[in-house]
Amino acid sequence: MSGRGHGTSIGIGLLGLGVVGSAVASAVISSRKNGSELNLRSALVRDPSRQRAVKLPQGTLVTDASAVLDSQNVDVVVELMGGEQPAFDYICRALSGGKHVVTANKEVISKHGEQLRELAAENGVSLQYEASVGGGIPIINPLLDDLAANEILGLRAIINGTTNYILTQMATGGASFEDALSDAQRLGYAEADPTADVDAFDAVYKISILARLAFGVSVPFDVIYREGIRRTAAQDFRYADELGYTIKLLAAARREDGGLLVRVHPALVPANVPMAKVEGVLNVVEAEGDLVGPLWFQGRGAGAEPTASAVMGDVRRAAAVLRDGGSVPQARPIDPDLSLLAMAEHECKYYVRLTVRDSPGVLAQIAGALGDLDISIASVLQMDADPERGSADLVIMTHPAREANMQRAVERIDALGVVDTVANLIRVESYPDDR
Ligand SMILES: NC(=O)c1ccc[n+]([C@@H]2O[C@H](COP(=O)([O-])OP(=O)(O)OC[C@H]3O[C@@H](n4cnc5c(N)ncnc54)[C@H](OP(=O)(O)O)[C@@H]3O)[C@@H](O)[C@H]2O)c1
Repeated sequence: MSGRGHGTSIGIGLLGLGVVGSAVASAVISSRKNGSELNLRSALVRDPSRQRAVKLPQGTLVTDASAVLDSQNVDVVVELMGGEQPAFDYICRALSGGKHVVTANKEVISKHGEQLRELAAENGVSLQYEASVGGGIPIINPLLDDLAANEILGLRAIINGTTNYILTQMATGGASFEDALSDAQRLGYAEADPTADVDAFDAVYKISILARLAFGVSVPFDVIYREGIRRTAAQDFRYADELGYTIKLLAAARREDGGLLVRVHPALVPANVPMAKVEGVLNVVEAEGDLVGPLWFQGRGAGAEPTASAVMGDVRRAAAVLRDGGSVPQARPIDPDLSLLAMAEHECKYYVRLTVRDSPGVLAQIAGALGDLDISIASVLQMDADPERGSADLVIMTHPAREANMQRAVERIDALGVVDTVANLIRVESYPDDR
């Protein structure tokens, strides 16, 4: 990549001037006042009459994407619109036009990262996306650069602040899922349509990006095992607490015998491990490298300023390339020998909450169905009973079992006459001290 720019000035063009775009515009404008070479040239919006959180220089606000993408004065395009389209097309146009690109768009990078990395390389420009995972937490660049000499053994993360806020409210305040979700919406932590967060699409996009960088494996977002938090109920937190756990939405990728397993689902996390104490909208990524050992990256996973911090780190790296030449750190090559494992291969302990007939012999039938599939029971709790309906909540903790066996056992248990319903099945996350 060769040095360019315009004399002492490097032109920045923003696509989007919303929550993050406004904070990035402010950071660029104030860096200019402090003598930086960055110069905000244009910012694309849909509605120019909207009130903005930042005062832009005269003539900077535009509604035609060409004013950013085709402008000779723009060296670095910063995409902060969100969504797959037209963001993807605009990024392609910017890279093809020889502009460096910075984006916070996890959906675009998760779905099209490989193609965009190639397009950037063909055009001799950089593509950076630190803010696409973990908001303000530096995690992409450490994986690309500082940890490049490591073989990464595993990643485990809480990377969706909305669901972590909802689960924290349920754990600490005894709220139902619906009440905790409404609360999150009222505070602006959850969208009116919460699907992307509560059904875990957002976390899947993010772990697919991290897995590509950490393991050199392309992990299409739609092959990742995905389970959101809608089934998690207030009583699951009460029962988990009695058993010494809390519940978190985890995104994990780990080398196992024979390949890489990537998964996103709610999990019982022992109450005494640090991850159990990552509360509210905070995010965390645990990484383990063969040389460095375990690492812990925690911080604000969203919000205008934290996200702008990550975006500006990328912008400054792009500016350094324009000024001094060189290049930004590149994703490790694809490892053709590392294959993806199916969720059926996963092995862990399970928490099973059942509503059963309150009658003798129930447990023996359930234990039989589990035993037929090589699953042994570690403990049983008989919880809330409903004498009027003659039913009771039964919570079973198993010893480690294979996912494929557990799913078959659940089908058989569900079919038993003494079982009203298998109300929830939650995987228990294993930690070194908890095996
Ligand atoms: N918010 C966070 O805390 C956070 C954290 C990490 C990553 N991100 C990522 O950062 C990106 C931006 O998020 P945000 O929260 O700042 O979004 P936002 O507040 O909704 O802002 C989006 C901006 O893009 C503009 N825009 C959208 N579609 C457009 C189109 N077709 N043509 C022209 N302009 C368009 C909007 O224009 P108008 O203003 O005229 O509507 C608005 O200025 C997303 O990829 C998001 O996932 C956000």
